Amino acid sequence: MDADKTVLITGASTGIGLATARALCGTSYRVILTAKKSSLPRFEAHVVSELPHVRIRALDVTKPEERQAIIDEAERDWGGIDVLINNAGVTYRAVVEHVVEEERLAQMAVNFRAPMEMIRLVLPGMREKGAGRVITISSVGGMMAMPTMAAYSASKFALEGAHEALWYEVKPWGIHVSLVQPGFVDSDGFQRVRYTPQSDRSEHELADPYHEHYVNMSPFIGRLMRMSPATPESVAKVVLKTMRRRRPPLRVPATFDARVFAFLRRILPRGAYHSLLYRMLPNVRTWGPREEGHSPPPQLP
Ligand SMILES: NC(=O)c1ccc[n+]([C@@H]2O[C@H](COP(=O)([O-])OP(=O)(O)OC[C@H]3O[C@@H](n4cnc5c(N)ncnc54)[C@H](OP(=O)(O)O)[C@@H]3O)[C@@H](O)[C@H]2O)c1
Repeated sequence: MDADKTVLITGASTGIGLATARALCGTSYRVILTAKKSSLPRFEAHVVSELPHVRIRALDVTKPEERQAIIDEAERDWGGIDVLINNAGVTYRAVVEHVVEEERLAQMAVNFRAPMEMIRLVLPGMREKGAGRVITISSVGGMMAMPTMAAYSASKFALEGAHEALWYEVKPWGIHVSLVQPGFVDSDGFQRVRYTPQSDRSEHELADPYHEHYVNMSPFIGRLMRMSPATPESVAKVVLKTMRRRRPPLRVPATFDARVFAFLRRILPRGAYHSLLYRMLPNVRTWGPREEGHSPPPQLP
């Protein structure tokens, strides 16, 4: 019975999280929608409000006391969490040389460490019930890395590895673990991409050795997102379908391009796969060392 089950979702005030939140509100599950305190007004702006089966709570996933408080409340009032949806995420755009330790930790804090801590908090209750579901929004970035996305990919690869181990560990208790992997999604998540001070400078300085990496990759990724037929709503549908499958798979590619990349990775030898992707990078011949007297071709707007 769905009405006996409690679902908690993180980072639910925008994008994929908001679309999933809306879809969840239309079900009979008990739902806890969470977002950072400063982002809670967005729910009202999107006409998402509390109902007898829907609670809206502040949760910055990087804050241990907020994580604990929300789990305590769910255990006290609704018998604990039956489905955890780890959705909150941030994206840094920077080549490896332009990420300092503090920025790398900030990326890992939201995308990897926080979901793992959320999982640790819900597992005892799930083990006790002999049931439960953990659904984490990973990414195509968790199956393939792209230049200027090293820290982001590292965080999603880390999630993929940890969830693969978790899948084996908690299967004996009937707990299902799934990674939903969207590819490019037509959403405004692109506008929230974070630059580090060094990557920001490099994108704007023609003479910077990595300038071409950024001025080619940023619009390329933006175009792929805008042209994508996938939307936050279509990904939300995949999340809900995964939640309801009797035997959900560990990895669920959630967009057409994610299925293509997963297929290419499976069939192509690793070396051929990397060479193919390298050749597909926009204007890759202009990246790196410049010949004397050679200036990069003008960028299209
Ligand atoms: N859009 C894509 O193309 C795409 C592709 C593959 C995977 N994904 C993954 O899908 C998930 C959702 O992304 P999206 O596209 O919907 O982007 P988004 O609109 O930027 O959503 C990310 C959400 O995470 C929240 N968040 C960030 N830091 C948080 C924190 N410390 N505590 C709580 N919430 C926090 C943000 O809230 P604030 O605004 O309050 O910070 C925001 O609501 C992410 O895990 C992302 O990596 C997206």
